[in-house]
Amino acid sequence: MFITFEGTEGCGKSTLIRNLSTRLQTLGVPHLVTREPGGTRTAEEIRKIILNEEMDPLTELFLYEAARAEHFKTTIAPALKQGNWVLCDRFTDSTLAYQGYARGIQLPMIRTLNRIASQRRSPDLTFFLDLPVEIGLSRASDPNRFEREGVEFQKKVRKGFLEIAKKEKKRFRVIRVTDLDPEQVCEKVMRALRKHL
Ligand code: TYD
Repeated sequence: MFITFEGTEGCGKSTLIRNLSTRLQTLGVPHLVTREPGGTRTAEEIRKIILNEEMDPLTELFLYEAARAEHFKTTIAPALKQGNWVLCDRFTDSTLAYQGYARGIQLPMIRTLNRIASQRRSPDLTFFLDLPVEIGLSRASDPNRFEREGVEFQKKVRKGFLEIAKKEKKRFRVIRVTDLDPEQVCEKVMRALRKHL
């Protein structure tokens, strides 16, 4: 299973992935936890540049895709091949939502680049943790470049994710996390995963 986790800022993805990993470990499910941008030494270096430097939107897009190509080929694909589950914090849908819906780069071009970088492998399941963007942003203690873009930008990102979810009902699971504690979010995701265990 290749499972990705998406959301706007401060939605609790990292906590969820940590909790899920503990559950899977207890159940004896071999898995890899990784993230984008990052997950390999080269991609983590690219991550530092993307998150810290100002740049043109196209440069940003290509850097995300470069990091992804490296990450997918050297880390995700081999892990899946060996029979591991892969839990990835953000993936191709983030590029559509942030660089496409929010920054305004054409979606078909991003879809093409996404396909190339991920060798045409889509996630089997994608969980979108949905939280009002104002709440999420208020949680950011050390805001990155994207969090500093503010509420309107984050709203476009959220709308983008929800549109993708509408188009890809089989793959996408939207979880409204506003009134849930981390344990409840983890339980909801485990329920969706149980039939694959
Ligand atoms: P990070 O600090 O990991 O944010 P979060 O905890 O919210 O995931 O930084 C990753 C940032 O990169 C995040 O703001 C979303 C953004 N991003 C894109 O804009 N495009 C992408 O393709 C990916 C993978 C991430």
